[in-house]
Amino acid sequence: MGNKIAVLPGDGIGPEVVDEALKVLHKVEDKFGFKLEIEKGLIGGAAIEKTGHPLPEETRKLALASDAILLGSIGGPKWDNLAPELSPEIGGLLALRKLLNLYINLRPAVVYEELKDSSPLSAKVLSGKVDLLTVRELAHGIYFGQPKSLTDEEAFDTMIYKREEVEQIAHVAFQAARKRKGKVTSVDKANVLSSSKLWRKVVIDVHQQYKDVELEHMYVDNAAMQLMLNPLQFDVILTTNLFGDILSDESAAICGSLGMLPSASLGAEINLFEPAGGSAPDIAGMGKANPIAQILSLAMMLETSFEQNDAAAAIRKSVDKIIADGYRTGDIAMSGEDVISTSEMGDVICKFI
Ligand code: IPM
Ligand code: MN
Repeated sequence: MGNKIAVLPGDGIGPEVVDEALKVLHKVEDKFGFKLEIEKGLIGGAAIEKTGHPLPEETRKLALASDAILLGSIGGPKWDNLAPELSPEIGGLLALRKLLNLYINLRPAVVYEELKDSSPLSAKVLSGKVDLLTVRELAHGIYFGQPKSLTDEEAFDTMIYKREEVEQIAHVAFQAARKRKGKVTSVDKANVLSSSKLWRKVVIDVHQQYKDVELEHMYVDNAAMQLMLNPLQFDVILTTNLFGDILSDESAAICGSLGMLPSASLGAEINLFEPAGGSAPDIAGMGKANPIAQILSLAMMLETSFEQNDAAAAIRKSVDKIIADGYRTGDIAMSGEDVISTSEMGDVICKFI
C-alpha cells in the first residue's frame, strides 16, 4: 500500500472545502502517526483556464501514479456551453472515472438526529433513523453508451448495459447489504426500458449467491416517491448510473443538505473520493460552503485506500459531536441559529479530533 494522493480541488466551492479536508487530514496524520504524500492537480474549469483541457495530460499521469484521489467538485456556468469532450463534466470528471474504471459509486446517506429539522421531510416520516446506501453503477449505462449524437435538429444517447457490468455492481450491493441491514432494493425502469429488463434479470441471477440478503425491485419513479414517503424502508439501493445520480441527490436532500453527503468511487485499484454535491457556483469563494461532505469523503478515503480506520472513525466522531453541539454552516442552520464559515467548520472539526 502506497501513501500518495492526488488532490484535485476543481471549481466553485471545491478549493475551499478541499482546504478544510486537508486541514483535517493533517490533524489526523499528527494524531495517528502517518503521513500521506500530497500532490495537487488541475481538473474541470480550473484546468480549462490554465491548459485548455478539463483533464490535462499531467492530471491523467498524476492520477495514475497515485494511490487515491481526493476531488472537490467541477463545473460552473462559465464552461456550460463547451463541446462535450471539452466540458468539465464529460471531458473532465467522466473521463477520469473512465480512465480509472471507477464502476462503483457508494453514496451513504444518514439523517443526523439533530439535523432532522433541516430535512424537508416531516418528523412523522423521520420517525426512525434514515441510514441508506446508494450503490450506483458509475462507468457504464447512458452516461457512456455509444452511439451518442447531438445536432441542432436531433440528439440521442444510448442506454446500454452488458450482463457483466450489471453483475459486478450487483455483487457490490449484496456484499454491502450483508454488512448492513441485509436488504437490497434494485431500482430500474423494467416496465419500459430494455436495458432495465436485462438489469433486473441479472440482479435476480446474482442474488442466487446471496440468499441471506433480501432483494426487492422498484421502478425508479416509484423509488423517487418512496424515498419521500418512507425513506426508512431502504437499506441498500442498487441502481444504474443515471438513476443513481438522481436518487442520490434526493437522498442527500432528505439528510438536510447536499453538503453532508460524501461519496467513494471505486474501481480496480486507484479510488476516488468526492462529495456527492456539485460546485455550487452561487456561493463559491464566499466562505459559506459546508465542508462536511468533503471531510467525510476524506474519512472514506482513509479507511478504504489506506486502512486508517481509527483516523476515519475519529473524523466521523468529531463530525457527530460538532453537529450535536450545534455548529452549523448556512445550509444546515435553522432560521435564528448562528452560522459559521467554511473554515470555522474545518477548525472546529479538527478541534474535536
Ligand atoms: C455527480 C455529478 C456528476 C454526475 C456530474 C458533475 C457529471 O452530478 O457526481 O453526481 O452526473 O455523475
Ligand atoms: Mn449528481
